[in-house]
Amino acid sequence: RIPEPCALVIFGVTGDLSRKKLIPAVYDLANRGLLPPGFVVVGFARADWGDGSFESLAYAAAKKGARTPWRDDVWQRLSERFHFIPGSFDDDDAFDKLAATLDELKERNGIAGNAAFYFSIPPAAFPLVLNQLNRTGMADPSKTGGWRRVVVEKPFGHDFQSAVQLNQLVDDVFIPEDVFRIDHYLGKETVQNIMALRFANSLFEPVWNSKYVDSVQITMAEDVGIGTRAAFYDASGAARDVLQNHLLQLLAMIAMEEPTSFDPQEVRAEKLKVLKAISLPPDISTGSVRGQYLPGWVAGERAVGYLEEPNIPATSTTETYAAVRLGIQNRRWAGVPFYVRVGKRMPRRVTEIAILFKRAPHLPFDPADVEMLGHNQLVVRVQPDEGVVLKFGSKVPGTSMEVRDIAMDFQYGEAFTESSPEAYERLVLDVLIGDRTLFPDAAEIEQSWRVIDPLEAAWAGQKPEPYRAGEWGPRASDEMLAREGRTWRRA
Ligand code: BG6
Repeated sequence: RIPEPCALVIFGVTGDLSRKKLIPAVYDLANRGLLPPGFVVVGFARADWGDGSFESLAYAAAKKGARTPWRDDVWQRLSERFHFIPGSFDDDDAFDKLAATLDELKERNGIAGNAAFYFSIPPAAFPLVLNQLNRTGMADPSKTGGWRRVVVEKPFGHDFQSAVQLNQLVDDVFIPEDVFRIDHYLGKETVQNIMALRFANSLFEPVWNSKYVDSVQITMAEDVGIGTRAAFYDASGAARDVLQNHLLQLLAMIAMEEPTSFDPQEVRAEKLKVLKAISLPPDISTGSVRGQYLPGWVAGERAVGYLEEPNIPATSTTETYAAVRLGIQNRRWAGVPFYVRVGKRMPRRVTEIAILFKRAPHLPFDPADVEMLGHNQLVVRVQPDEGVVLKFGSKVPGTSMEVRDIAMDFQYGEAFTESSPEAYERLVLDVLIGDRTLFPDAAEIEQSWRVIDPLEAAWAGQKPEPYRAGEWGPRASDEMLAREGRTWRRA
């Protein structure tokens, strides 16, 4: 799949996301031969971003972040296709220049007016940039002769209301089908594999329901703290940062019905139905936990507490950990708890989804022989050690009938010689091709906020529970599961 000749315009091209993810993704696509002839990158950012030339910034970024082997000749050819336009977002001249550059490239590079605008910028700048694109006619395909797409990064709103406003703002300028909202978790190989696992096999779907499933646990643990994003993080917290988007998307992929095809409308419609069926615990105070990390040790290194992080107010009540027991009100999932947890400064980085099956209705064994037998489990390891693990009981070799849990382990690294593209590489390619399947639509985003808003309202003004950096969250989180006779899986 190679896109039509086109331009990728990156607003905020000198920023963190662009350097870490977008420029390397473009290099990897070039290296794999997936970019069309005449492809150009137009970077747009303030002129005072630092020392050195844009070329040297892009070179350093690509070299550092590339997944594919480095090839000077590939970089050489690609870098000739990089343009840089310095300007701030209220600088009309800079936007006029951008429009003129795209016009000129239409003829010179044969991009036929096709362009994708990537908003790698803070949401507060969205209105300004959208106005500029509107003013200059750059967003209007009828004026430019080719397609025009916009790529918007999260956070997509702060709550339901602001998400609706933002959607309207973007839809006023771009045709709704041309808006690509990035949730980079959907670009991960292991997340896309959920659909293959469920719908390409006959083994799993028959037991994928409340008759056989006891509960589902979704974990996103990070060993890192908040890094250099204090201002953003303190205003958001764990639930807004990743629960609203990545984790609810994972939940939707696990719980949705089979789409009639992988057509974007079909997949999005099925995910939306699940998001609409999500219920919060009747009592949010016992069915959810918020935490904040204290100083501690992570992987042998000392970590400061959240309140000692640079630029975090000493009185902050923002959560760095959140756990909630969700339900899904439909026939397939009635009564099955979906425990979802996310945290910073956990003992290690791991994202996984564990389906815990009900125990066998009868065990014709001596109880002492099955003491080490837990729930059968299917675990989708999103990252790291990507793969799928099936845990079930097996007879321990020997003369007794002792049964113990063992694991059947599928690891990408062993099963495939093919390498996975990085999430952004896959998603940038999909934008250029125009494939919307992996991009949540406006309705999904808004519906996800409807889940988060009542949680946030119930949490407002409460102090989060403390946990030490390097621990699996606050004790209250274990207690929440213990009250229901369950424990968190050791991820
Ligand atoms: C981002 C969050 O969306 O995802 C970050 O804003 C988080 O807080 C990051 O660290 C994790 O992404 P990944 O791909 O490293 O799991």
